[in-house]
Order: sequence, then structure tokens, then C-alpha cells
Amino acid sequence: MISNRINRIDSLLDPGQVSRLEEFFFEQLNSLAVDFDIDESVVFALTQKETLLMRILSYRAATTPIFSEILETIKEWARDRFSFSDWFVNPMFYYKICRPGQSLIDSDAFLYTEPHYDKSVDGGQFLSFWVPLRATSLETGGLCDFDLPVDVQLTEFPFQGKNRLDLTTYLKDPNPIDQICRNATRNYFCEPGDVLVFGPECLHGATRPISDIRLSLNFQIFPAVDVSSMSTFERKKVTLYQRFPLLFLAATLESLGDKNGVQRILENRSESKVIGAQLEAVLSNISKADVSTSALGKKVHWRSELAWLNEIDRLQEGCVLWT
Ligand SMILES: [Fe+2]
Repeated sequence: MISNRINRIDSLLDPGQVSRLEEFFFEQLNSLAVDFDIDESVVFALTQKETLLMRILSYRAATTPIFSEILETIKEWARDRFSFSDWFVNPMFYYKICRPGQSLIDSDAFLYTEPHYDKSVDGGQFLSFWVPLRATSLETGGLCDFDLPVDVQLTEFPFQGKNRLDLTTYLKDPNPIDQICRNATRNYFCEPGDVLVFGPECLHGATRPISDIRLSLNFQIFPAVDVSSMSTFERKKVTLYQRFPLLFLAATLESLGDKNGVQRILENRSESKVIGAQLEAVLSNISKADVSTSALGKKVHWRSELAWLNEIDRLQEGCVLWT
């Protein structure tokens, strides 16, 4: 569907729109200390990588109408470029704020994110998008791919199955990987409004922020026709999000223990009135995560992040939330 390297789409988004999304992200980030009754320094320490607090922040930052507008622009781009007339979003949104000197990253490692292939809905075809919310440069680091001979790539980083490497494994001993990848690294620096796109066969990673913060969003889309061949869980996840995005986000935040985040959705958006009864039924019945300070710093696996979907399967009898 797309070449197996990163492609940059220049000026796809309006830079004003991107800066409003950035502003919304920081509003949400700044409210975490009060909402979770934790110190600013704890927020800083816990909004790294995929901690529970960072996942909460990511889902919160998807609740603004600007976010939906950006998704629409990207889907439209895909409609124009490929033969599929309809595209669905996989509702797993990853905002990343990467700060120089972050404690989770080994100071000797060349990369911030280990080389890997993205996986998505049931291994079908998909496109990954990476949207920088600020300009990227050597100082901020950014998404990169690797110009490796095919045999080296496939031996060191086999494409089939799970990625052999994860961040923890890479950071235990980054040198062998750094030796292979350092000189093969291709950077794709961006201005606000530019978007990077790549497919499942693109081996990619990210370089480290050197002296400036990087802020990015990434997610995936796939042809809507593929939904019918997916597992029940995946089908439920993607159909529910396309039909009721705010219900999906509110329920996910509720299950992650973010009462204030849910409250804000209910107060601010008219769509939440339309879905009110269904939302109430869902929210009152899903289990909530422990949000103690230590839990907020733990890594969350996406399966458990969205485990509430299994719970409402049993609870929504007679109410068609997905097909
Ligand atoms: Fe990735």
C-alpha cells in the first residue's frame, strides 16, 4: 500500500490547528497535579513513555474537537491517495512528550525508541501517522527509519510475529543495536503541519531529544472494509469509537480512574448529552483502575487499558453499541 520507509506529507495540517492542539495538550497536562493530588515534579516524572498517567493524558488530549478535525483531514488524505473510500481510526492514541535528560532513558543509548515495526488491528493492513505538535530538529530528535541492507534488516529485526526487541531489552545493552543503526539512521524533521506516514513493514524508531522538548501524537488508520474480518474485540473497539468517539474516550478514562477527565467531557460537549444514557450505563458498570501515585507510574498494556470493552459486552443487552 505504501513504501516501506517513512513518508513526509508537507503542510497537510493547518499550523494554527496544530498549535491549538498543542495548547490543549498542555492544558490537560497542567491540570494533572490538581486532579490527581500529586506534586508537579511527580507529574513531570510520570509523564514519560507509556505510564498510566501518560495514557490518561493521551486519551484526555483526544477529547477536543481539534483532534477530530485532524483525524478527518488525515482520513481524507488517505481517501484521495488510495482506492479505499472509507477509513477507520484505531482508537489507541499515543501522545509523547520527550524531554532531554529523561530518567527512563539510558544516557548512553543512541535511540529514544528502539527499532521496531508497528502492529495494529489483528495484523491487517494499516497506515501509521506521526504528527509533531512542535517543529522537530536534531535538538528535539524525532521519528527515524534505517537504511539497512535487506538481509541485515531481516536477520536483526525479523518482520514476522512480535518485535524481538522492546525498549527495556534495548536499554539493557544498547551498543550492539546502536552499532547497526547509528550510521543508517534517516531523520525526517518537520515543521508544525507536516505529518509522517508509514506502513507495517517500515522499521522505525526515534532519536533522543538533545536539548529541546519534542511533542508528538501517533495513531493508525485502516480501510473500513477490513472490519468484518476482525476479532470481536477489535471490531467492537473500532466500531464503537467511530460511532461514539466521546463515549469511547470517557469510558476509557473512567476505567483508568480519571474521574475529573470524564467530568470535563460531560460538562463541555454537546455530544455527551446525545449519548448520555448509554454513557451512564457504561460508566456505572466498568471497573476502575487504582490511581495511587505508584500505580500512575506503572506501564499499562493496551489490552488492559481497553479491558472495559469486555465488561460492557455483558452489560449492554438490547442496546446496540456496535455491529
Ligand atoms: Fe512505532
